[in-house]
Amino acid sequence: MKSKKLLAISGSPRKAATYRALEIAVEEIRKKGIQVDIWDFVNKKFNLCIDCGRCLKEESLECVLHDDAITGWASRFVDYDGYLIASPVYDVNITAQLQGFFNRMRSNWLLLEKNPYAYSSKMGAAIAVGGSRYGGQELVLNAINNYYLSLGIKVVSGGPFAYVGAGVWSKDQKAEGVDLDTEGVQSLRALGASVAKAMQE
Ligand SMILES: Cc1cc2nc3c(=O)[nH]c(=O)nc-3n(C[C@H](O)[C@H](O)[C@H](O)COP(=O)(O)O)c2cc1C
Repeated sequence: MKSKKLLAISGSPRKAATYRALEIAVEEIRKKGIQVDIWDFVNKKFNLCIDCGRCLKEESLECVLHDDAITGWASRFVDYDGYLIASPVYDVNITAQLQGFFNRMRSNWLLLEKNPYAYSSKMGAAIAVGGSRYGGQELVLNAINNYYLSLGIKVVSGGPFAYVGAGVWSKDQKAEGVDLDTEGVQSLRALGASVAKAMQE
């Protein structure tokens, strides 16, 4: 049987709290022998979808208008068996970078039109990192989980410590803030273990 691969994405433009949170969950997943690739938005300049429709017309998984730092991501995204997407909370939402990437995968619609179950054997989980204790982490988890659902990806719960994903309070202290949030770390480890289990089933 082909071994399964997980894609982990840090939605922050910095290698700081969100990246650290992702690493903690990924550690649990790698422990189980699952291959994980990590993508991030550090120093990645890219253009936003302007709904020109060319990707759909030309049946291209990639944006055909722009050649930039995320060119190639959309076609590689479909190759993974599972996803773990993390975002800092920006104005009670996911970052513009992450939303911009989701929008650039507009032509996933083509895949789903041909095969509504293109993503149905895949799974996804979410992580949110806020500077405030109650800064909108749950809304970020919902945004990421809803993106999975829009593709037909099955959402994985982290169980009792991370029902809809892992929520972390960084206190705006980058990686160190994450390590100090013991409940957040517990939710990250619980989520990582659930993802590994789901990938092995
Ligand atoms: C533009 C912007 C908006 C933010 N909005 C929120 C917010 O709504 N709620 C919150 O808890 N933290 C907010 N923060 C703080 C970040 O979520 C927090 O510092 C987070 O740890 C940053 O992640 P990073 O270190 O991975 O970049 C915001 C930060 C920025 C730069």
